[in-house]
Amino acid sequence: MELYQATTTAPVNIAVIKYWGKRDAKLNLPTNSSLSVTLSQDDLRALTTASCSPTFTEDRLWLNGVEESVATSSRLTACIDNLRQLRAELEQENPSAPRLSTFKLHICSENNFPTAAGLASSAAGFAALVRAIADLYQLPQSAKDLSRIARQGSGSACRSLMGGYVSWEMGEADDGNDSLAEQVAPQSHWPEMRAAVLVVSAERKTVPSTAGMQATVATSALFRHRADVVVPERMSAMKRAIKEKDFEAFADLTMKDSNQFHAVCLDTSPPIFYLNDTSRACIRFVEELNRSAGKVIAAYTYDAGPNCVIYYTVENEEIVLGALKKCLANIDGWRERDAALAASLPEGF
Ligand code: PMV
Repeated sequence: MELYQATTTAPVNIAVIKYWGKRDAKLNLPTNSSLSVTLSQDDLRALTTASCSPTFTEDRLWLNGVEESVATSSRLTACIDNLRQLRAELEQENPSAPRLSTFKLHICSENNFPTAAGLASSAAGFAALVRAIADLYQLPQSAKDLSRIARQGSGSACRSLMGGYVSWEMGEADDGNDSLAEQVAPQSHWPEMRAAVLVVSAERKTVPSTAGMQATVATSALFRHRADVVVPERMSAMKRAIKEKDFEAFADLTMKDSNQFHAVCLDTSPPIFYLNDTSRACIRFVEELNRSAGKVIAAYTYDAGPNCVIYYTVENEEIVLGALKKCLANIDGWRERDAALAASLPEGF
């Protein structure tokens, strides 16, 4: 059987300056720029295989073993159509290249973490889908070019095509040509950065991000101030903090931006609640940890769900994980090497 196949993984990214609001829902054009840290693929990732064959009769997709409809998902078809078009152009230039653009696709994707629980599963999922099909089609486009396509699947997916510290520049054009992801710094620039992921709830979120964003744009008075005034300033300040490896500035901006994003959700009518009591307890935990340390050593952030991501640097790993382990000793998910941390916690924590 004539079968072509490519497999790839894509990492999760967790925004430190949040994307919330669309100025064009079809093209996924945002109302503000955003910036994220790409997590290590050893921990959270989507693994995707794309194959095509003249024997396939329709485009099909399996997510974690369950088939999802491709035809009824305009986001999926937008990504697939764009990639097929690029392959067709490549085939026109190379008449000997196999006509993959005319074959149907089968896509199989798997996350190693809870799907749609505010852990950026769609970001990793769409980034892996776009990368896998681009590899299958042997497209020459750069990650930045492909981010234009991944963005149409899920906005935040455009930031998962690159490692390290990545911005999504909102752009101005109506066709979205300049709404692209850019690497602010590679992971190697600040390899001391770490993220602890606290899965508060693995359930699917109650308000999907697109519906939530649209309600916010339509009803929140706070939202315009955030998009027009606050985020542009924070984007510059965050890029500076990353360039200078200034953790205190990075952490301060990260926590403020998470809080403002959730304030904007609360300011939406009807209000959207993504955080729960456990999330708020984690916020108090980090605030208390920083107070005990006498400086900012950890930063919390929350996407559209109750799960907490805590950023810290490796020099403070024992304190941050040790204090967490002390509070959450009975929760599973600890790695063996973390087991001794609570015991080695300095006095006062
Ligand atoms: O990419 P979406 O449509 O799932 O939206 C993601 C929105 C947030 O995760 C809350 C923020 C962000 O920038 O990732």
